[in-house]
Amino acid sequence: KLIPTILCGGAGSRLWPVSRELHPKPFIRLADGQSLLQKAWLRGAMLPGVIETLTVTNRELFFKTEDEYREVTPVLAKQGMVNRFILEPFGRNTAPAIAAAALQVAATHGEDACLLVLAADHLIADQPAFEKAVARAMELAAQDKLVTFGIKPDTPETGFGYIEYDGNSVKRFVEKPNLEKAREYVASGRYLWNSGMFCFQAGTILQEMQQHCPAILEATRACMAQSRLSEGKGFSQIELEAKAFKQVPDDSIDYAVMEKSAKVAVVPCNIGWSDIGSWAALGDLTAADSDGNRIEGEAILHDVSNCYIQSNQRIVGAVGVKDLVIIDTPDAVLVADRSRAQDVKHIFARLKAAG
Ligand code: GDD
Ligand code: MG
Repeated sequence: KLIPTILCGGAGSRLWPVSRELHPKPFIRLADGQSLLQKAWLRGAMLPGVIETLTVTNRELFFKTEDEYREVTPVLAKQGMVNRFILEPFGRNTAPAIAAAALQVAATHGEDACLLVLAADHLIADQPAFEKAVARAMELAAQDKLVTFGIKPDTPETGFGYIEYDGNSVKRFVEKPNLEKAREYVASGRYLWNSGMFCFQAGTILQEMQQHCPAILEATRACMAQSRLSEGKGFSQIELEAKAFKQVPDDSIDYAVMEKSAKVAVVPCNIGWSDIGSWAALGDLTAADSDGNRIEGEAILHDVSNCYIQSNQRIVGAVGVKDLVIIDTPDAVLVADRSRAQDVKHIFARLKAAG
């Protein structure tokens, strides 16, 4: 049994001003009209044999998420899909979200049931290749492994986890190394990026959490025990209680478990994966014109090259500039150097601090 488990949280601060706390990155729609979240859900729901999905997200995003799933359900051509939800009062990062999901799956389907953890804000271009990678991951998961999906790195990106590997075995998992280390890893050819998707049996991850981050597991278990479950035909929601969830330490699964566990395995894969981490990455999805400009919406350019411009309602005019990201929205405009796209998170942080 395979349960695609979609993690949707985090504000996506590097995609301000389109990504906001209540309109985070997974809800951003791409040119084909589908949001990143819809694509993530379909990616899991379309896999052969899947009849149930689990989504862990903020309770404020529940109705919006349900609407999004409903909108693309006809694309699925599968009857009777059950979509379960675990609703968080606030984010505690991925380790608690995964602990809650694993506890839920173990309670409903037993410890042998497999979770396929998917991030709500990635793109995967090659679904058939993804399907094959998942099939291989399930074989490894059945051997009590925590399976990661490894991507061949092409830049020393410091926002990713790195996996030193040999075939399917993993020698080392390093989360978000510094630039010097990242360069060394990429140059060595012995490392893959961690895609941020995982496949494991509920029992395996629960055991590894018990060993490597017992405080997170115990606090999440206690929280689940106090939480409200509403269940009916075709729906099931667990709403995590805020007071108890506050007791859960904040950490990512990468630091809390993957860096420490001896059971990590990897499926190296070539599936057209991309993490839409910044405007520069999002811009790369749009075709460039002969000057290297990528435009969504309407822009009038004179002597402009290598810019990504997005505008929904107004016309953007630009003269004599290059390598910029310009994002126009009704109440905010972003102008950034393309190479500094990662730093847009600082604007988001300042706005948040200002309330
Ligand atoms: N429900 C819930 N609650 N989901 C969360 C929370 C939370 O508190 N925090 C993050 N998520 C979701 C995000 O929405 C995203 O879909 C996924 O979990 C991963 O979280 P990120 O915050 O985007 O992680 P990251 O990008 O820093 O790093 C991870 O992904 C990289 C690849 O994109 C790590 O797994 C890295 O090792 C990996 O390389
Ligand atoms: Mg991410």
